[in-house]
Amino acid sequence: MKSSCEISKEALQNNYKTLRDIFKPSKVAPVLKANAYGHGLEVAYEALAPLDPPILCVNYFFEAARLRELGYKNRIISVGPSFLEDLEPARKIGAEITIGGEDLLEEWLSLENKGKIHLKFDTGLSRQGLYPEKAEEYSKKISNFSSFLQGISMHFANVEDVTKQSYAKKQLSSFLEVKNIFQKAFGSSFECHSAASAPSLLMQEGRFDFCRVGISLYGFWPSDLTKLSFLSMKPSQLPALEPVLTWKTKIASVRKIKKGTPVGYGCTYTATQEMTIAVIPIGYYEGLPRYISNRGAYVLVQGKPCALLGRICMNMSIIDVSNCSVVKTGDEVVLIGKQEDSEIRAETLAEWSGTIQYEIVTRIHESVERRLVV
Ligand SMILES: Cc1ncc(COP(=O)(O)O)c(C=O)c1O
Repeated sequence: MKSSCEISKEALQNNYKTLRDIFKPSKVAPVLKANAYGHGLEVAYEALAPLDPPILCVNYFFEAARLRELGYKNRIISVGPSFLEDLEPARKIGAEITIGGEDLLEEWLSLENKGKIHLKFDTGLSRQGLYPEKAEEYSKKISNFSSFLQGISMHFANVEDVTKQSYAKKQLSSFLEVKNIFQKAFGSSFECHSAASAPSLLMQEGRFDFCRVGISLYGFWPSDLTKLSFLSMKPSQLPALEPVLTWKTKIASVRKIKKGTPVGYGCTYTATQEMTIAVIPIGYYEGLPRYISNRGAYVLVQGKPCALLGRICMNMSIIDVSNCSVVKTGDEVVLIGKQEDSEIRAETLAEWSGTIQYEIVTRIHESVERRLVV
């Protein structure tokens, strides 16, 4: 295997248990969309299954179907946009779908066989959701089918980007108005859910029946500001989130080059002295962003930072191993994770890449093997 991601069962389970303890009595609904944030849907499920999560969230119907094939019997919610053609297959496998637009609501209303739904309200993200000001009209529309209403939901826009949650509070108050209207119509027969990782960690009032937790389950703080905000509120209770994923590859070849030798496409790097360089079989196809070329990024070999030289190629990259003792083909290289006393966090790779850790891990190509390690 040219490159693989080791997924720590212990870390994933510990993160789940830690968050479950913090958020109770609200439940934790792990978000396994985007190939379990790049960790591998199957291995992430295998790690979580013994803990019997009551609800799993996915984006696509095919992810829900895969979880059923893997033997998951509890609830599945598809939180992403659904289309008419998804409704019947979802109903058949008992997956609940999110209705986040009036067109889909009308289509669902016209179906003879209805499955369970969550009505999502757009309280300020302007992405997906029905209009809060029309909540009463929607409640009337579905009144004959209210037994199919599993929940109402929303999504916050900027909790992880600020330390003052004034916008989130506005969103929440709009959601509470919707909740009120639905409660008048249907009592407490439906659930409410609004919070992803950051709001679950920072806003107890946003947790409701369950928290849709993605990034924190995989051992990341949603942002530095989220961690800072948490520290300022509860300095002694900072949860220990452990990164779950280690991305490794191995040295493909080693060569010596003379001072003045250009390295890689475009000759964008020139050796400043005699150097020992190595090729790793990972490039932008596998998910190493080309943007980090010539930006001070490195990988770990023998626990030492080894600079990436020149441009990242499609399936290869070139690294400087001059400071290592003898390096051979097949030696371990770490792109994300720990090696000896050193560590490269996905957040660091994200910083080099001008993006967020969410994008780094979800973009590790599916062809890279995911292996559960105990
Ligand atoms: C609707 C919804 N809920 C929850 C989440 C989980 O977010 P996070 O990874 O920040 O916990 C996502 C992630 O994209 C989402 O789209």
